[in-house]
Amino acid sequence: MAAKPEYRTGSDPRTLRDALGCFATGVTVVTCIDGDGQPVGLTANSFTSVSLDPPLLLVCVAKAAASASPLSSAEHFAVNVLQTEQRPASITFSTRVEDRFGQTDWEEGEFGAPVLMDSLSVFECARHAMHDAGDHFILVGKVKKATFEAGLDPLLYFRGRYRRLHFD
Ligand SMILES: Cc1cc2nc3c(=O)[nH]c(=O)nc-3n(C[C@H](O)[C@H](O)[C@H](O)COP(=O)(O)O)c2cc1C
Repeated sequence: MAAKPEYRTGSDPRTLRDALGCFATGVTVVTCIDGDGQPVGLTANSFTSVSLDPPLLLVCVAKAAASASPLSSAEHFAVNVLQTEQRPASITFSTRVEDRFGQTDWEEGEFGAPVLMDSLSVFECARHAMHDAGDHFILVGKVKKATFEAGLDPLLYFRGRYRRLHFD
């Protein structure tokens, strides 16, 4: 049998990425309004629920991302959890696209942050805390409003590819 791929601190980060890619996730688009009043957002699968009381969630944002600066200073942001039909939105918000919001149906949420239409669920948050974490920062939000569609299936991400649920 072939030896298992193994990562050790300081060795090839590709192997670490592949190991982390074994953790199947959903896909979100995290949005806010920047200092010029323009909508910004990026695809993120680092979304995690944190606390029910108070209601907190987190997302990890790469410091190198163009959205990092606006997200770190916005009073409010939204986490849009994507459903299977929103794979184009995930691609739009994770690649170099001229006008991400011009290619996606969205509306202004109750607290200002953009809400993508037809999302599986939407969490509108107030910025609660930010923590430094290597080449990322951890953005913790306090959930002010959450909505969801009961009948839709999630867009999933596993081993670097989009997936969908199946039961057999
Ligand atoms: C499925 C998927 C999940 C991603 N998750 C994250 C994430 O959690 N945090 C992050 O900073 N970037 C993540 N990215 C990468 C960003 O979406 C990508 O770098 C994007 O182009 C950043 O846009 P910006 O530079 O305009 O902010 C992810 C990409 C994909 C395809």
